[in-house]
Amino acid sequence: MEIITDVNLMQQRCLSAREQGRRIAFVPTMGYLHAGHRSLLEEGRRRGELLVLSIFVNPTQFGQGEDFESYPRDLTSDAGLAEAAGVDLIFAPEARDMYPPGYATYVDVEGLTDTLCGRSRPGHFRGVTTVVTKLFTIVQPHLALFGCKDFQQLAVIRRMTGDLNLPVEIVGMPIVREADGLAMSSRNVYLSKSERSQALALVDALRLAGRLARGGESSAAAIIEAVRRRIVSEPDAGIDYIQICRKDSLEDQPVIGRDSVLLLAVKIGKTRLIDNAYLFEEV
Ligand code: PAF
Repeated sequence: MEIITDVNLMQQRCLSAREQGRRIAFVPTMGYLHAGHRSLLEEGRRRGELLVLSIFVNPTQFGQGEDFESYPRDLTSDAGLAEAAGVDLIFAPEARDMYPPGYATYVDVEGLTDTLCGRSRPGHFRGVTTVVTKLFTIVQPHLALFGCKDFQQLAVIRRMTGDLNLPVEIVGMPIVREADGLAMSSRNVYLSKSERSQALALVDALRLAGRLARGGESSAAAIIEAVRRRIVSEPDAGIDYIQICRKDSLEDQPVIGRDSVLLLAVKIGKTRLIDNAYLFEEV
């Protein structure tokens, strides 16, 4: 396994791998890898001949006052996990090389980014789609793997890839959870012991919603109210959004259907967590 920081060198390596006919599988991340990332890498290993991981805490997707500076970073431990998962190349560029002075080009997906996290984190998805486009251009992947925990991100990246005719297959992978149900996230490290146990309200709420839906409740408002009550029962929980949406368009769905997904963003103390589930699937 090799760690490359130079943008041009990385691109040359990937272009020559493609010329040799090697299938490139790509897992873009911001590092501080956990079992969720490992599942993406393992699937990438199965599907690709050259497995590339990027580790880049992308400044353009963080807003003012968000956690860009404090976002956890540990390249040594990430390299260990990557090597064990069979990664061939890690791309770990510097921000000044990805966005040199005078940088002026951004990618914006309209519509899908107006809701959910796009509403509470203005500019976030513009940063995500810009960096993912740049990474795709540098890494030249045949396929790229993303976790479904970032449900809206995955929908936005699929739309972008389709709209721009990018020749990359986008693979969405299931959410990986801790034994007690908490969705894996690099940000879980911010949680104190008490916050860690309060954070289980998210998965509890998803399970409650699923039971209501499968028991015959079809009103999104009724399900959202039950979810809200469960979450606010935790003293340090602050709701950003609870929405039930159609899975592809992310439009609100007042009467739930088979394609309904419940999406949550909740602050536990200062830590913002997201989670989601299809209402007719067990979590
Ligand atoms: O999901 C993430 O870790 C990031 O948003 C991504 C896709 C690597 C872009 O910086």
